[in-house]
Amino acid sequence: QIVPVILSGGSGTRLWPLSRHAYPKQFIPLVGELSLFQTTLRRLAGLPGVAAPCVVGNDEQRFMVAEQLRALGVDGRILLEPIGRNTAPAIAAAALDIAVADPQALMLVLPADHLINDVQAFHAAVAAATAAARDGALVTFGVVPTRAETGYGYIEAGDVLGEGPARRVARFVEKPALDVAEAYVAGGRHWWNSGMFLFTAERYLQVLETHAPAILEAARRAHALAREDLDFLRLDAEAFAASPSDSIDYAVMEPTDDAVVVPLDAGWSDVGSWQALWEVGAKDETGNRLEGDVIALDCRDSYVHAEHRLVAVLGLSDVVVAETADAVLVSARDRVQEVKSVVGRLKGAG
Ligand code: GDD
Ligand code: MG
Repeated sequence: QIVPVILSGGSGTRLWPLSRHAYPKQFIPLVGELSLFQTTLRRLAGLPGVAAPCVVGNDEQRFMVAEQLRALGVDGRILLEPIGRNTAPAIAAAALDIAVADPQALMLVLPADHLINDVQAFHAAVAAATAAARDGALVTFGVVPTRAETGYGYIEAGDVLGEGPARRVARFVEKPALDVAEAYVAGGRHWWNSGMFLFTAERYLQVLETHAPAILEAARRAHALAREDLDFLRLDAEAFAASPSDSIDYAVMEPTDDAVVVPLDAGWSDVGSWQALWEVGAKDETGNRLEGDVIALDCRDSYVHAEHRLVAVLGLSDVVVAETADAVLVSARDRVQEVKSVVGRLKGAG
């Protein structure tokens, strides 16, 4: 039995001003008619052994989550975080909830905001990961890097494990500095961490106990004191807020010795930034991706997104312009990771 755990609580700040706290990118139909969250659920159809999903998201987005599940006819468990404490506690809450029925159940942790072109290859990678996960490994899915992206985790593969494609993780490094990322990509021995994981509920809780006991403790209390409310399970606010805020990558994957990596070659993209969205989208012969009412003259390799007004760009290359009703972003395309800082400034100001 594999329980998909869908992480939908992020606010996608690097896609500002398109993605907002109240309406983050995973719920927006960015590519096609379904949102990325719905595409993530759809991708599970036909996966052998798959059970109903467990969605972990924040309280403010609960109706969007419920509505988008209903639109697909999917019945899932919805855990609500009163406040975001990043992915390590969110996954802990899911693990505790799943362990009530079966501590040995496999959890397939999936970010709600990724694109995968080749669903068959994704299913095959999950199948290749199950034996190691049942044996107590924390399995990651590694993607061959194509650029020195500093927003990702990097996996150095170690010894081959058994017959399949799985290998031990020699080292896991989350969001390295640019020079380190460049060296990893040039060296050819590292994979990107796709941000998806497979492990048993029991194993995740054990590893958390070793490396981040305060997170486990807070999640335990928050789950023990949780309240059922309509279709939702509301984690206890005070207990959950007491958790340190940390991602699974820093809190668990970097320190553990029990990680395994299975290669994933499935046209994966995390659509995490304007750069990633430009890469996956259709472009004209000069490398421009233009959306909405746009006039682009003599421009190259740029992304112009217009929602409410006509946007004209002239003589530019490698830029991103994103126009929405109340905000406009103009950025060098290779600096879009720093859009996060713009949002940071906004929050600081208001
Ligand atoms: N429920 C919940 N609660 N979900 C959250 C929270 C939270 O507090 N914070 C983030 N998420 C969700 C996001 O919506 C996203 O789907 C997923 O968890 C991962 O969080 P991100 O904030 O997008 O992480 P990241 O992109 O910086 O890094 C992760 O993904 C990369 C690949 O896309 C890491 O796993 C990296 O190692 C990895 O390379
Ligand atoms: Mg992400």
